[in-house]
Amino acid sequence: MYKIAVAGTGYVGLVAGVCFAEKGHQVTCVDIDSNKVEMMKAGTSPIFEANLEELMQKNYAEGRLNYTIDYQSAYEDADVIFIGVGTPELPDGSANLSYIATVARQIAESVIKDCLVVVKSTVPVGTNDKVEQFIQDFLVNDVRIEVASNPEFLAQGSAVHDTLYAERVIIGTESSWAKNILMDIYESFNLPIVSVNRRSAEMIKYASNDFLALKISYMNDIANLCELVGADIQEVAKGMSFDERIGSKFLNAGIGYGGSCFPKDTKALDYIAEQNGYELKTIKAAIDINNEQKTILYKKARNRLITFNGLKVAVLGLTFKPGTDDLREAPSLANIPMLLDQGAEIFAYDPVGRENFEKVYPEGENANGLIRYVESPKEALDNANVCFIFTEWGEVKSLQPSDYKTFMRTPLVFDGRNIYSVKDMEANNVEYHSIGREATK
Ligand code: UGA
Repeated sequence: MYKIAVAGTGYVGLVAGVCFAEKGHQVTCVDIDSNKVEMMKAGTSPIFEANLEELMQKNYAEGRLNYTIDYQSAYEDADVIFIGVGTPELPDGSANLSYIATVARQIAESVIKDCLVVVKSTVPVGTNDKVEQFIQDFLVNDVRIEVASNPEFLAQGSAVHDTLYAERVIIGTESSWAKNILMDIYESFNLPIVSVNRRSAEMIKYASNDFLALKISYMNDIANLCELVGADIQEVAKGMSFDERIGSKFLNAGIGYGGSCFPKDTKALDYIAEQNGYELKTIKAAIDINNEQKTILYKKARNRLITFNGLKVAVLGLTFKPGTDDLREAPSLANIPMLLDQGAEIFAYDPVGRENFEKVYPEGENANGLIRYVESPKEALDNANVCFIFTEWGEVKSLQPSDYKTFMRTPLVFDGRNIYSVKDMEANNVEYHSIGREATK
């Protein structure tokens, strides 16, 4: 078993740390925020993630997991240090590596024995080489330091499961010493391990995420054409999915991909290509389609209604997908400001995203309209003139077509997640517009 330190307690770092502890390693998670550290020690997770708190509490109680702001004590005698800090997008689309650099410097100044540094954060190809050089440059003690790449493939909402039962583990190393340590750490996970060089590992992460983003944008593109020619995107996706070369996952058309990864990683790879004198046309197309797709429902609704001024607008779902409280790049954030500008009176429902959304749009008057937060989807629908569905939460899906007719003043629904069958909505006299399917007659 290894003595592991993990830098950063966001999605990547905290989940990795907890899962390594669960597999028996001795783990210390490092963060700069002392309140967060105290909160985690008390067993509260800073992120909304299924099963995470239970595993945090169990492994902390059993002494395999700890949290600290004292990076020096965590790094100095660690066998392995995983870096899981953020690499947010800079205005030019490139990845901001300043958090990685800070951690690299702290490691260089702290370590007193040989140590493998493993970068889990998503970083541009070649970054690991630079991190290794950077650590060597600042190294205080005469010890062996090597950097390896071990990109993360967890999705928010299923992060613990995705880590413990990953479809593959990618390890990118430049020596058998580094490779053997990572193979050892992952041995008890009993998962397929793909061992490659460092730069390939870095590229696998971007290429995988961008492929999925492209798949979604492709389906959204086809969906828009389906509407024009009278085809149904859900039937089309079903027909496609039986071809194993295409697969059945990530074929759902909607109002665009959001979250902290696909938008950032598509732009970052596009930037990397440009920096290398190459134009990545596929990814540029994915980005463009996604930007357009986010407001496609709003445009449809505006054409239908002329204006939103003084209308009661029900909004169901604020987060970028169900199972998370994360709002980053959520379609709601692209649509709600336009609705408010147009004078809409918004009644918004989200089972967990409300608190985060309220920080951006406090309850009350905003621009020319106003926003209120409600406790149930039915409360949002009550007497509404129009309803937008932005996130397919179970609570939203459990609404029956007849509920829209019963509760709304005028049953007019714009669904960005294709939750209902058009026929069912039609049978319940609901005017229903969705993505890639004909509207109700
Ligand atoms: C994504 C990847 O799925 C993970 O494998 C990866 O590790 C992660 O990014 C990351 O790089 O950290 P995540 O952003 O949590 O995970 O969410 P996804 O479940 O992939 O969904 C992303 C967006 O795509 C959501 O807005 C979702 O609504 C949208 N989506 C997904 C569709 O519009 N259609 C689909 O068929 C699937």
